Amino acid sequence: MCGIVGYIGEKQTVPILMEGLEKLEYRGYDSAGVAIYSQEDLVVKKFKGRLSVLADYLEENPLPGVLGIGHTRWATHGEPNDINAHPHTSYHGKIAVVHNGIVENYMKLKNWLKGKGIEFKSETDTEVIAQLIEYYYEGNLVEALQKAIQKMEGAYAIGVICKDQPDTLIGYRKDNPLVVGIGKGENFIASDIPALLKHTRDVYFLEDGEMAVLTRDHITILNDLGEEMNRDPFHVTWDIESAEKGGYQHFMLKEINEQPKAVRDTLFPRVDKENRIKLDELRLTGEELNQFNKIIIIACGTAMHAGLVGKYAIEKFARIPVEVEIASEFRYKDPFVDKKTLLIAVSQSGETADTLAALREAKGKGAHVLTVTNVVGSRISREAHDVFYTWAGPEIAVASTKAYITQIIALNLIGLYLAELKGTMTRAEVADKVAELKNLPDKIQAILDHQENIQAIANKQFNQQSVFFIGRGIDDYTSKEGSLKLKEISYIHSEAIAAGELKHGTIALLEKGTLVIALATQDQLYDKMLSNMKEVKARGAFVVAITKEKSREEVEESADVVLSIPDTDNVFTPVLAVVPLQLFAYYTAVARGADIDKPKNLAKSVTVE
Ligand code: F6R
Repeated sequence: MCGIVGYIGEKQTVPILMEGLEKLEYRGYDSAGVAIYSQEDLVVKKFKGRLSVLADYLEENPLPGVLGIGHTRWATHGEPNDINAHPHTSYHGKIAVVHNGIVENYMKLKNWLKGKGIEFKSETDTEVIAQLIEYYYEGNLVEALQKAIQKMEGAYAIGVICKDQPDTLIGYRKDNPLVVGIGKGENFIASDIPALLKHTRDVYFLEDGEMAVLTRDHITILNDLGEEMNRDPFHVTWDIESAEKGGYQHFMLKEINEQPKAVRDTLFPRVDKENRIKLDELRLTGEELNQFNKIIIIACGTAMHAGLVGKYAIEKFARIPVEVEIASEFRYKDPFVDKKTLLIAVSQSGETADTLAALREAKGKGAHVLTVTNVVGSRISREAHDVFYTWAGPEIAVASTKAYITQIIALNLIGLYLAELKGTMTRAEVADKVAELKNLPDKIQAILDHQENIQAIANKQFNQQSVFFIGRGIDDYTSKEGSLKLKEISYIHSEAIAAGELKHGTIALLEKGTLVIALATQDQLYDKMLSNMKEVKARGAFVVAITKEKSREEVEESADVVLSIPDTDNVFTPVLAVVPLQLFAYYTAVARGADIDKPKNLAKSVTVE
């Protein structure tokens, strides 16, 4: 998630932008840059790497000016390097833009502009915005931006300055955050409040489709029809630390709550209005894809759990055998891999040592390697043949949540794409599934809107010694993820057992009051799960059941507490059912006073074997 800062006033801009960008560092970034209106020109300085690289340069090469925009980039289109870093300028250098989000139709727009003789320097979608604005610019920056926006699809927030307009700074938002800071003789824009707090606590929150036109002394907010809007300023009372977490107590909770957006960002650019899937990132032809006779998914931890869910979906949709291997095991077992194997390496960080080593092992044996990763330019993304980026935004909390959900979305899309190619599903059947995938963000939100129910259970159960998760079929995989989340952040021992396997040993551990979390979301396995719940209840267990809304009443007879998730296709339930489990782990850890964002003994990226 990129960070934007903009300033117009009387003070020197560079120090203000750099301080603001530092305050946005928590969002994660791989490069940084500024564009300053200096000596009647737009001067851009931008570098790959930490902010200190840019800061050191600007200290040695001062850039005077009282209008400017700054940016920390988290790469989505094009690897992290100096050229792809923001700000981006237009062909004749008239317009400079910083951007957070994704312009979904940027390739189409880029080709259209190229057809008009406009040359591009970077691989980014952002450069298209700068070029479009200049293309439409006839002396009125607001009008040019309004025209450009009409052409753009996607979710984005942008900051714009123009060489001909040293008295104007513009911000615009559509589905991505942008706040306007209100000063005296100076005004600001930023992606997030921490960047502004040193200078002002009075802000305007822009609504979707609104544009803020800032001069030193004035702020005008225009709606999408160009009408001026009246807005009451909001006075910020939070301290910097809670502002960084968007008002949430922990990054983990923030990231759980960002999941509807993470799913939207990963899914929507890859499906069109007719619910057709376009995976431009897969450079293999249909014929080549059709030649694979098996798929192996390699990953570790939470990413491996996403792989298990992916296996279920891909096998069901595309009828190709899929194996899921723990990366640290795969590399030492002399695996059966050849040219007809498609290897999918799933990794949030793209840096996990075991996953990387397993990828190399398979590549050496001739497999075609596709990675599903969240970090552009990561080692795994560089070594894979093809990359499917999840666009969850940076994940700061050690416990993975939003990355996991987007990995499942990615694997479902790959499964459906293969299914249509192989003819195991018709175009209409695939379109039906895509239509339901599109409903998932709202359904996740519906669960998040009632998180107090889950908090109430956690507040009663946080003293458990051991917690057991049971489920069948795809629910077993979600159970595994729920169990891992609980143990890693609350330090309670927990196990996930396939429900039918309980009576073969583990049931001996149940005592009066032992907490069993039972997932019963699969219509075809539902009766069996009801029996398993009765079985553990008869041994004194306290049963919390997770089921679809339509089964709620029936399940109430077999469980002590029922949490329901919105109805959805059986294959997609993991995307919804994991949310209450993440929240349960989170609120249990809060009740136990654990260090949630940095659990003991764990690291965000495991780069050693
Ligand atoms: C658990 C968790 C880990 C990671 C695992 C793989 O919440 O985050 O289990 O999933 O270390 O990491 P990546 O996905 O970066 O390869």
